[in-house]
Amino acid sequence: MKNYARVFKGNAFTSKSPTELHILKDYLFCINENGMIAKVVAPVDQDYQTILETNQDKLQCLREGQYFLPGFVDLHVHAPQWAQSGTALDIPLYDWLNTYTFPLEAKFSDLNFARKVYQDVVSTLLANGTTTALYFATVHKDASLLLAQICVEKGQRGLVGKVVMDNLDQTSEFYRDHDTQTALKETEDFILEVNELAKTTKQGVYPVVTPRFIPSCTDEALKGLGELAAKYDTYVQSHCSESDWEHEYVLSRFKKNDTFALRDFGLLRDKSVMAHCNFLNDDDAELFAETGTAVSHCPISNAYFANSVIPVAHLHSKGVDIGLGSDISGGFSPSLYDNARQAVISSRMLEDGVNSRLPAVERGVPHSRITINEAFYFATAGGGESLSLPIGRLAENFAWDVQIIDTTTATAKLPIFDNQEDLEDVFQKIMYLVRPENICEVWVQGEKVHSR
Ligand code: GUN
Ligand code: FE
Repeated sequence: MKNYARVFKGNAFTSKSPTELHILKDYLFCINENGMIAKVVAPVDQDYQTILETNQDKLQCLREGQYFLPGFVDLHVHAPQWAQSGTALDIPLYDWLNTYTFPLEAKFSDLNFARKVYQDVVSTLLANGTTTALYFATVHKDASLLLAQICVEKGQRGLVGKVVMDNLDQTSEFYRDHDTQTALKETEDFILEVNELAKTTKQGVYPVVTPRFIPSCTDEALKGLGELAAKYDTYVQSHCSESDWEHEYVLSRFKKNDTFALRDFGLLRDKSVMAHCNFLNDDDAELFAETGTAVSHCPISNAYFANSVIPVAHLHSKGVDIGLGSDISGGFSPSLYDNARQAVISSRMLEDGVNSRLPAVERGVPHSRITINEAFYFATAGGGESLSLPIGRLAENFAWDVQIIDTTTATAKLPIFDNQEDLEDVFQKIMYLVRPENICEVWVQGEKVHSR
């Protein structure tokens, strides 16, 4: 009999496929010292009773009304923008960046201010069930490293990028890299420092090459960043074909779409995640599928800044990896539950169309809708696959990254009135109605990192 660090028992939900849910009723999850799921045991399995009896001292059993879900993977968060979440959403992207966002991010040269915001955003995301986050920090190397350290301390799996913005045309003096060479040198130093930090971090912490988006960067910086990503085999993140303005800007500068421009700079890799991607055509989608580049779908943010609904079902059908992103603070909510809900709603509106003056047959884009199961998949297994990490599923050889949901929390009870209710229905209620009050514990890599 193997020696497990912990054993958990209860009902769990995980994705079987993008559209199908796997319901595990009364299963055992055996966790090893490394925080990985070593064994998943069904009640009908031979060794179920033996494992239960021999691990009494390491056993945690869920109560009636509690469920395990995989921790969420947020594929796009601007950690500094947490300080302005919920504000300034009534102006277009270009103005929002220049009048609100860049002045706010400039303040992160102050490490004390950065520490306050970063500690709060990491704790808030954990409390909302997000166990892995792909972060943009700011142009400041030291504050970016501080964000990585805070993820480590709080037990979240953080992938962190020092943002690069060196294009004099599209940035302001108060907020940009000193020059291209400094931007590249600081990115390289940042990669080395985070890799050093990773050596002693159980849950993993990763440096991310982060050109903010093509408009902010010179050709030389984009090329240099592509070379650094290849040299150190790092993750890459950026914004891609987000709004009419941004899409047109890139077309007029390079006579091609963002996707092919990014590819030519060496920025599309298996470890690349591009946010938004609203205006991708089928050639762009094929390029993403070929290079293993993932799309971070940010449905709340897109409703404010992207001028369109991304055809996410279509891109997924073309073989593109998709995950969900909160895009704090283009999206106001730190919750991937809220974003999963919006992903479904937006897809329904794309399918039906929104202009009631048009006849029904002309109004929408057929086959665009996604289900809540698919949105859940994007928030969990899809995010894990986008990052090529063993996360986002409750299955053997995946990390024990979970949220324990309590549907009976006094202040946020879910409307479940029959304890024999079909578990598929319970799952849907969880996806649509859970609030942070229902997330009673969060675990990352076998360690408890949040409880209430
Ligand atoms: N494009 C460039 N920077 C940003 C940002 O901070 N948020 C969003 N939504 N789009 C961007
Ligand atoms: Fe963004």
